[in-house]
Amino acid sequence: MSRIAYVNGRYLPRNEARVAVEDRGYQFADGVYEVCEVRGGRVVDERRHMARLDRSLGELRIARPMSPAALAIVLRETIRRNRVRDGIVYVQVTRGVARRDFAFPADHTRPSLVVTARSNDLEHLEQTAVEGIAVVTVPDIRWKRVDIKSVALLPNVLAKQTAREQGAREAWLVDGEGRITEGASSNAWIVSRDGKLITHPLGHDILAGITRSVVIDVIKAQGLAFEERCFTVEEAYAAREAFVTSASQIVLPVVSIDGRPVGNGGPGLIATALRRDYHRHAEISE
Ligand code: PDD
Repeated sequence: MSRIAYVNGRYLPRNEARVAVEDRGYQFADGVYEVCEVRGGRVVDERRHMARLDRSLGELRIARPMSPAALAIVLRETIRRNRVRDGIVYVQVTRGVARRDFAFPADHTRPSLVVTARSNDLEHLEQTAVEGIAVVTVPDIRWKRVDIKSVALLPNVLAKQTAREQGAREAWLVDGEGRITEGASSNAWIVSRDGKLITHPLGHDILAGITRSVVIDVIKAQGLAFEERCFTVEEAYAAREAFVTSASQIVLPVVSIDGRPVGNGGPGLIATALRRDYHRHAEISE
């Protein structure tokens, strides 16, 4: 089946879908995006993802491409046309097309909107969760506003490639003080020896993951010990468990960090339980 992309008002076969060479997303990475999980054909945590999209747009002073209600329709139509039951829907908004000039273009420049959707192999994902993943640590060389979900992802691309070349699935980014901020495309978590769930606090130096926030709801509902604080690479090596969270992976146990086994070297019990319980706490759209 040919895949369909929504581009600025039109649904097109993906290989016919085009953006202009002077789109500021292409020229300057001047744009933002969201990735939402699709489950049973429905969008997961849409309200929170759309609120974060609005915030990213606001921080960069990019206009909304359309009303939230209209965007909700485009998401559903893109999912439907691609016959996605389980997978992801991707939304990208850039500052639009204008003659190349660093400063913002004229006010009447319309933002560009692209929406795509694709299926995931759920069985394969489940198998990955059962096996757990390896991560490697790399320096966090990103800019100082990674709370904005911008399409400027070159450091993340390089970090992921380093991970892949070392046989790992994710890279954990380490700041100047030896603390893990987050993954290249996920939030990073550990469970300490005394059973506390620990993840980096919100701020300008991590993305406020939607999956992270729902996992915090699960943790609170289950009365587990939780600390939002920085943790070092050394603490991660010594952790009982580790895991990552993101919309496309939900919760994935980490079984090795820089080649050292985490805990007993298998997926942790807490991470596995959080993965199992996640969708009871997430919001599933109509
Ligand atoms: N990545 N941190 C970074 C740097 C991310 O890119 C992501 C998401 C997350 C997790 O956020 P959320 O739980 O809202 O998905 C944290 C998406 C999935 C991506 O770029 O494909």
